[in-house]
Amino acid sequence: MMEVGVIGYGYWGPNIVRNFQGLGDVHVAAICDRSPAALRRASSINHGVKLFDDPTDLFSLRDVDAVAVVSPVWTHFELAKSALENGKHVFVEKPFTRTVAEAEQLIEIARKNDRLIMVDHTFLFTGAVRKIRQLIDEGTLGTLYYYDSMRVNLGLFQHDVNVVWDLAPHDLSILDHLIQKNPEAIIATGETHLNGFEDVAFITIYFPDNVIAHVNVNWLSPVKVRTTLIGGEKRMLVWNDLEADEKIKVYDKGVHVKGGEGVYDLLVSYRSGDMWAPKVDQCEALRSELSYFVNCINSGEKPFNDGEAGLRVVKMLEAAEISLKGKGKAVYL
Ligand SMILES: NC(=O)c1ccc[n+]([C@@H]2O[C@H](COP(=O)([O-])OP(=O)(O)OC[C@H]3O[C@@H](n4cnc5c(N)ncnc54)[C@H](O)[C@@H]3O)[C@@H](O)[C@H]2O)c1
Repeated sequence: MMEVGVIGYGYWGPNIVRNFQGLGDVHVAAICDRSPAALRRASSINHGVKLFDDPTDLFSLRDVDAVAVVSPVWTHFELAKSALENGKHVFVEKPFTRTVAEAEQLIEIARKNDRLIMVDHTFLFTGAVRKIRQLIDEGTLGTLYYYDSMRVNLGLFQHDVNVVWDLAPHDLSILDHLIQKNPEAIIATGETHLNGFEDVAFITIYFPDNVIAHVNVNWLSPVKVRTTLIGGEKRMLVWNDLEADEKIKVYDKGVHVKGGEGVYDLLVSYRSGDMWAPKVDQCEALRSELSYFVNCINSGEKPFNDGEAGLRVVKMLEAAEISLKGKGKAVYL
């Protein structure tokens, strides 16, 4: 039986606790939150679990093998560092850290202490992303052209980060997983309206081989939209994550250009074939991810969403932040 501790019992922490508890071979030994109200909520649902307001008390529990850091971004580095130095494996929320330097330090500390880091890139465990990865790997879409995502809703305004650090990690981790190449350059624009942090932002990411990605994140949208278009040479798809069924629709559409002598001699033909909705696994992503975390610890397997994956996302976020402050100046990686 693996003993785990969870730090941070706000909005997302209860989901981590519930999913750990749903795994047969895991026991949630302790929950830590510095807010008395959060601890009261935790005690009413999780009987027999030790409760602390100081993470040091949790780290000193010798039986605890792993710790999940589910607190705000600015606390991730110190908490994950202490956990690793106390011999715990860590599951850290997205985004991994606030800076590239912090992410690199954590990776080094984990290596020295022979501990594992997993970064919560939840979307990689959804049936939709797993299906899209399969369609790409099998060559169904052909050579990739673009990824265009709209991730907008009203709020939730964060107090410590802008909309890029809050919402874009999802798309950036998905891009990293699907494209499997390091980006070349990032351009980001955005604006602040209410609390001093950018609440609307548009990020363009250039990948090798003419693959381009665009991510639109917004806390000021009247409606919630979670729609991504992915275009390839052979086929294109639309992923609407708010659809209960048929989240992904694959379109057998494409454009073929035949060369002539000059621009006016080019022959452009359009192909419009069938559309189909592949079956998408509906299991809870977080449960699969936490089960994978436990399996990786037990087997010694290196997770694909490890500290390095977290670092690659933080590199993109840091570049986007620099570009944002420079009003869309291109940042080369
Ligand atoms: N993977 C996902 O889909 C997903 C979804 C939501 C949030 N998150 C991530 O989860 C993390 C937490 O987000 P949230 O929305 O739950 O935030 P939240 O503000 O609702 O909750 C954070 C909790 O951490 C506690 N806390 C803060 N500093 C602490 C410390 N030093 N020691 C102990 N407790 C501390 C706070 O009291 C609070 O209860 C963030 O990194 C966020 O990006 C991930």
